[in-house]
Amino acid sequence: MEVTAWMSLHHAMNAQEGRPFSRRTLKRMGGFARPHARPLTLFLIGSVTLAVLAVATPVLAGRVVNAITTGAANDVVIRLAVIIAVLALLEGGFGLFNRWLSARIGEGLILDLRTAVFDHVQRMPVAFFTRTRTGALVSRLNNDVIGAQRAFSDTLSGVVSNLVTLLLTFAVMVTISWQITLLALVLLPVFVLPARRMGKRLARLEREAAAHDAAMSTQMTERFSAPGATLVKLFGRPDRESAEFAARAGRVRDIGVRTAMVQHVFITALTMVSALALALVYGLGGFFSLRGQLDAGAVVALALLLTRLYAPLTALASARVEIMSALVSFERVFEVLDLKPLVAEKPQTRRVPDGPVGVEFTDVTFAYPSADKVSLASLEEVATLDTRGGEDVLHDVSFHARPGQTVALVGSSGAGKSTIAQLLPRLYDVDSGSVRLGGVDVRDLSFSEIRATLGMVTQDGHLFHETIRENLLLARPEATEDDLWDVLDRARLAGLIRSLPDGLDTLVGERGYRLSGGERQRLTIARLLLARPRVVILDEATAHLDSTSEAAVQEALTEALEGRTAIIIAHRLSTIRQADQILVLEAGRVVEHGTHDELLARNGRYTELHTTQFATQEPKALV
Ligand SMILES: Nc1ncnc2c1ncn2[C@@H]1O[C@H](COP(=O)(O)OP(=O)(O)O)[C@@H](O)[C@H]1O
Ligand SMILES: [Mg+2]
Repeated sequence: MEVTAWMSLHHAMNAQEGRPFSRRTLKRMGGFARPHARPLTLFLIGSVTLAVLAVATPVLAGRVVNAITTGAANDVVIRLAVIIAVLALLEGGFGLFNRWLSARIGEGLILDLRTAVFDHVQRMPVAFFTRTRTGALVSRLNNDVIGAQRAFSDTLSGVVSNLVTLLLTFAVMVTISWQITLLALVLLPVFVLPARRMGKRLARLEREAAAHDAAMSTQMTERFSAPGATLVKLFGRPDRESAEFAARAGRVRDIGVRTAMVQHVFITALTMVSALALALVYGLGGFFSLRGQLDAGAVVALALLLTRLYAPLTALASARVEIMSALVSFERVFEVLDLKPLVAEKPQTRRVPDGPVGVEFTDVTFAYPSADKVSLASLEEVATLDTRGGEDVLHDVSFHARPGQTVALVGSSGAGKSTIAQLLPRLYDVDSGSVRLGGVDVRDLSFSEIRATLGMVTQDGHLFHETIRENLLLARPEATEDDLWDVLDRARLAGLIRSLPDGLDTLVGERGYRLSGGERQRLTIARLLLARPRVVILDEATAHLDSTSEAAVQEALTEALEGRTAIIIAHRLSTIRQADQILVLEAGRVVEHGTHDELLARNGRYTELHTTQFATQEPKALV
């Protein structure tokens, strides 16, 4: 099924839930319409002109008939014919112009809404993305934005021009013969009532199809990705999945056939009703005409006008549902635009002082934000959001990494090491206490300043599905070819990449799948080396490396860390031993800190970790 059809139903369905639309929504829609005020005005003028032209032709045709029946002069008939021809040309021209205007307004609105949503979503905190479903978000950007646009270009304008045509046609018919007009309109309910019922039936059918479509596309996007496909191969039931898919697709086919039939019955009924009305006009008109109460031209004009009455009527019969659904789209777009980013830049930002930068945590307490603070129920595809606040993950964490120092964080899994790492680049904000970079609270820095100062490599270093070159240049767009090869060399990747047929222009597969885990990690390390940040955070950055390549990369890292401040979360003793300071974390608290020797001498938690975790360490296999 067409995406647009999908949307319209999807939205019609929501509209039927009968949510009242606030004044605010309408006002904001006005705000988005304002830049298009001029084309909109022109469009309305064009619509009225078109309606007038549409009514003029039947009236003129009636005049021609009268001229013939009364035996008027030749040139009268010819003049009328010429006017009819000119009107037809004008109608074509205006129609073209109006379509151009409405397309421009509509597409312009799509552009405005899309860029607004993209820009806004891009600024949302990481917490938002950890909760929302990408599919739901993308559909918000695509379907709802298009749906919102329909409120303007299709529906509203359609309603306006149809209404104008309808009223004008009706008015002219009444002036010709109010009796015949009224009688012809008796058939109206016969036409409108089934139309509404049919519309509801169609909406129900298509809503069901939309649900099946959505389920199928979820199934496809989930399964047709490298990790998903791997999972299916390892644990999946391909036969069952195929059967399920086929059942849904089959149901969509059945619905498609039913829809086509319902639609056809509807159109046939419509044609019949208007044919009956036409018969009525001819019969009654002829009767009046024979009695001399009406001239022949009036009968012809009425008949022609009647045929123009039903098209706008059909359109208006379903207008309410369409307008409501377009409004729902607007609301859904606004809903996203209204999400306040939990982590935002201050209007006035400060800079990190030049030179080496120290890192300072002072009494930091932190809990991951609850769902209702960071996301939308509709994007998580749940009915209501979890309002439970998370437990504190960090309690009164304080430490100070002086400029150039290396601080190692150790502790069992879940102790809060990665959380500490995420607070530095402001992926989250602390609940109390402060995090400082070069003596400045990170909340006072601009995001670009933080990006320029900090570099981070995580365990699952993410790469975009682009070329190796593009992935590297993300860190420093102005880097030269030599810079790239230099960092690749230092990350022990140059040899591998030289051997690839496309070299730097090799596409990294989806989620970096074509590279092994270790290679991927070395590429993210190369990216860090290229960025040359003054503060480096390594969160298990070498976890995917085997001991040989780790030794090699470690060398590169040591080189890269020289003179820089580093926060290192490592599981290898060799890395930890060299740190200037070691913090031992347990359940979100710093339980011990000192150098390797000091801590060993204390014979506490560190010694325990040392004997259980580091000393018996097996080198991790390459993924
Ligand atoms: N995005 C998140 N939302 C909620 N809780 C989280 C999130 N990430 C981690 N946690 C929780 O925070 C605690 C500390 O996690 P983390 O800092 O990742 O530990 P570590 O890196 O030391 O293994 C864990 O209990 C974990 O479940
Ligand atoms: Mg971690």
